[in-house]
Amino acid sequence: MTDFADLVRAFDIQANACVAFGSPFSGALLKRAKDEIAPGTGLAQLLSPFKGMNARALMGDAVPLRWLGCLHDLALSGDAPALTAAFPAADRPGDVDASWTAALARMAADPARFAGFMAHEPQTNEVRRSTCLLPMFLTVAAQTGLPLRLFEIGASAGLNQLWDRYAYDYGSGMTWGDTGAAVRLDAAWTGSPPPLGAGVHVVSRAACDRKPVDIRDPVARRRLKSYVWADQFERLARLDGAIATALAANTRVEAEDAVTWTARRARPEPGAATVLFHSVFWQYMPAESQTALSAVIADLGRQATAEAPFAWLRMEPAPRNLATMELRLTMWPGGEERLMGIGHAHGASVDWS
Ligand SMILES: C[S@@+](CC[C@H](N)C(=O)[O-])C[C@H]1O[C@@H](n2cnc3c(N)ncnc32)[C@H](O)[C@@H]1O
Repeated sequence: MTDFADLVRAFDIQANACVAFGSPFSGALLKRAKDEIAPGTGLAQLLSPFKGMNARALMGDAVPLRWLGCLHDLALSGDAPALTAAFPAADRPGDVDASWTAALARMAADPARFAGFMAHEPQTNEVRRSTCLLPMFLTVAAQTGLPLRLFEIGASAGLNQLWDRYAYDYGSGMTWGDTGAAVRLDAAWTGSPPPLGAGVHVVSRAACDRKPVDIRDPVARRRLKSYVWADQFERLARLDGAIATALAANTRVEAEDAVTWTARRARPEPGAATVLFHSVFWQYMPAESQTALSAVIADLGRQATAEAPFAWLRMEPAPRNLATMELRLTMWPGGEERLMGIGHAHGASVDWS
């Protein structure tokens, strides 16, 4: 048992986290799985590549979420009808017992599918983070009076590039965007209101990721969805709406490292504000890339003029609290860095105090 103690612990931690973050179905499945991790079981065999890692490393590599994502992917694929029938869907909450029985059967019948899926780290694209990005884009538009050229790094599927096509509701009558939009985002707002009246015009958008999710590929699209917990219907609906919007807009994400791409693509140009932005990305770069990208950004800032301003806008975890996002904006000429607010990790709230 001791060989598996850390895996059991990681599954338990993840199960509790799922419950705390609003997915009781995922929590219950992970608890079943936790009890199954023991010598000789099919699940233990599937997890053998991760044996020897401590619980912290297992959580860092999102091992429990790899397994959970694989199950959801299978359910979405229709390749395992009993699992599909047992999993939550918009019209039913999901049957944990039947899902677990079907999961055991699928792990026994097709372990290669699980092993192949679990070899990849989870990759997500949180559309609701646009609730935290919007007030910073509005601030750049209001302060420069110029149209925006957008450059997103670490964009995943590129869905937050389309932030200006979504509808926003921050409560207390604070709304923004096209109320007929396919994606409607809400967030609890505290603090002074954002400059919702600023005229915003996006003249161009571009994005990169070292491993973009190609939403034109149905398998990649399904994998992206599979990492959203199956009983979080609103999140899934938002993702569907954003994917449809991105497909209609022919959104592209270039496959390149952020350091070279930023240096090559994001030079300021007169007549528009050039905006480099990212969310929950910085921590995934090694220290030397962080240093190199900081130098590239400082160089782009030096090239900025009043006619060709440059803005660096980001939503990244606070150093000592990874669940809280700092919303920071630096604008050149000048280069003064401002902490504009604090955001919820998935965009459920914005504190603009
Ligand atoms: C946690 S995801 C966040 C995706 C998206 N920004 C969001 O908020 O939903 C981090 C993304 O950064 C990408 N990434 C990590 N290091 C990178 C690098 N050096 N260059 C480009 N993309 C990178 C990953 O591939 C992944 O898609």
